[in-house]
Amino acid sequence: MPQASTRAHLAPPSPIRKLAPYADAAKAKGIDVIHLNIGQPDIEAPEEFWTALGAKRPKVLEYSHSAGNPTLRAKARASYKAQLGVELNDSELMVTTAGSEALVFAMMACLNPGDEIIIPEPFYANYLGFAVLAGVTVVPITTYLDQDFALPSIEAFEEKITPRTKAILICNPSNPTGTIYSAAQLHALAEVVRKHDLYLMADEVYREFNYTSEPVLSVLQLPGLEQNAVMVDSVSKRFSLCGARLGFLVSKNAEVMSGALRFGQARLSPPALAQIGVEGALEAGPDYFDQVRGEYRARRDRLVQRLSEIPGAKCPKIDGAFYATVRLPIDDGDKFCQWLLEEFSHEGATVMVSPASGFYATPGLGKDEVRFAYVLEEGRLDRAMDCLKVALQVYPGAKVAAGS
Ligand SMILES: Cc1ncc(COP(=O)(O)O)c(C=O)c1O
Repeated sequence: MPQASTRAHLAPPSPIRKLAPYADAAKAKGIDVIHLNIGQPDIEAPEEFWTALGAKRPKVLEYSHSAGNPTLRAKARASYKAQLGVELNDSELMVTTAGSEALVFAMMACLNPGDEIIIPEPFYANYLGFAVLAGVTVVPITTYLDQDFALPSIEAFEEKITPRTKAILICNPSNPTGTIYSAAQLHALAEVVRKHDLYLMADEVYREFNYTSEPVLSVLQLPGLEQNAVMVDSVSKRFSLCGARLGFLVSKNAEVMSGALRFGQARLSPPALAQIGVEGALEAGPDYFDQVRGEYRARRDRLVQRLSEIPGAKCPKIDGAFYATVRLPIDDGDKFCQWLLEEFSHEGATVMVSPASGFYATPGLGKDEVRFAYVLEEGRLDRAMDCLKVALQVYPGAKVAAGS
């Protein structure tokens, strides 16, 4: 029998999806499983998306340009100009099959197999899968819940840099922590990147989900970093269009973009239907985002408040995205999350959250942490938190909190 490749063996399963069979079994028993485990927003996509799709009904659904439809690219460039003040030319932006493809193209265009990419952990777990596809080695740099998952010091980054280091990848605002990096932190990181001649890749798919009064600084706005900066974007979360599979790769580095375009030519074109709709979605006004942001801010506040009522739970500062990585008074997050689905229910319901261990590359970290995706309306969120509170009172591996 032929053997599957080393890559096939190395590709990690998604920590977010690995509990799905237990959730299915719970549902088969009639239990209402409340999903706080996956970043699938429940908010409606902008009406403009559907209007654009309805208005343009091509006779033949053709392949588009490998970099995406010129009209969509022009609109996307105009939106970056308006939002970030960044002027882009035609070859500096390409349309991708969502952020996932943009990340794979970015890694493959910037790094050689065997090169190292430094990523603050906990990080979006699929970065490991993308790194396997690109043959690059992920070097984690740990951030800590007790420090609100702040970006590590410049010295800490420099300690991780080796002759094989080619890039640093940040996610800002962060999945899974909800952290937003400050302008000062990003300027300091830019210094390191320049000094060691690295790429600074930024996954900015949650840019609009910002609950602070300061704007999220894009890596594209860092002065003097034009050749090093690579930005990944997506409409999945921004417009609640996860199934559209549409995103953008942006860089002023001509070599990187030319390589990415040739990868794009090999896969022919990004999704044609989604491109038509997203041209419409890009017309959505600030009202759309104000409403979405308001909704998520309220959910964030509710989550934080409910967690504060749980003895022994510790929730760090959450400024953006729609995630929180939280410490719970438990022995083991993997066991706890599975137990919630297999053995627990409260008034016919249980809650599904993700063990945080899967977001750390360093073994053993995040054992007593879980990640919440607060993508449900407040009533449902409350029901989930009721379940969690009761669950922690009866979970056999619960730790008794000091002073409780
Ligand atoms: C941080 C981050 N980056 C990228 C992605 C990929 O999303 P998509 O491929 O739908 O754009 C996700 C999805 O959850 C994410 O959380």
